[in-house]
Amino acid sequence: MKHIVVLISGNGSNLQAIIDACQQKKINGTISAVFSNKADAFGLERAQEAGIPTHALAASEFASREAFDRQLMQEIDAYAPDVVVLAGYMRILSPAFVARYSGRLLNIHPSLLPKYPGLHTHRQVLENGDEEHGTSVHFVTDELDGGPVILQAKVPVFEGDDEDEITARVQHQEHAIYPLVVSWFLDDRLKMRQNAAWLDGVQLPPQGHAAE
Ligand code: GAR
Repeated sequence: MKHIVVLISGNGSNLQAIIDACQQKKINGTISAVFSNKADAFGLERAQEAGIPTHALAASEFASREAFDRQLMQEIDAYAPDVVVLAGYMRILSPAFVARYSGRLLNIHPSLLPKYPGLHTHRQVLENGDEEHGTSVHFVTDELDGGPVILQAKVPVFEGDDEDEITARVQHQEHAIYPLVVSWFLDDRLKMRQNAAWLDGVQLPPQGHAAE
């Protein structure tokens, strides 16, 4: 059985989608542990409900980002994960952390990367009057939200949408695509090589796998 470690900071709806996919055997793997940098993250309750060990680390108890990540790595490595999945983990990673899990570190970002790296993506989409928005699953590299894209899902933006509506529309797609990408990875179909994502031996284009 392959081992997944998930990092969260909040609600954990993407974590829930991955828990469900594991239970439904859509993912050939098991979530060994969930880590959060926020002790009150609702996602920790979701994990406990599913019988998954949880760990919360408080940044305030560490002298530096590097020290926090060193402790996090030590605790993650106790689970010997095949893949480390960032699911709404809202903390910048140290270069040492990225290097340690390079090639087996996945993230989901709520925009059609390379558009809108960073925070407040939904707000920017509305402010700019974009007609299209979406979400991207990508390998993590040292460049913030800049690693090779694996899969994107697009959603329309409608006249009069507010931030909550658009967030819900994007997250609905996230819950479909993130478990799928995790399953590809654990089935050894997905690799990161030469700063690109490869699926079934084929290098994916910059916008990731074309689902259509
Ligand atoms: C998700 O929409 C994810 O794309 C986003 O946080 C949300 C977490 O929701 N991630 C980022 O913004 C990372 N830069 P969740 O806790 O319900 O899964």
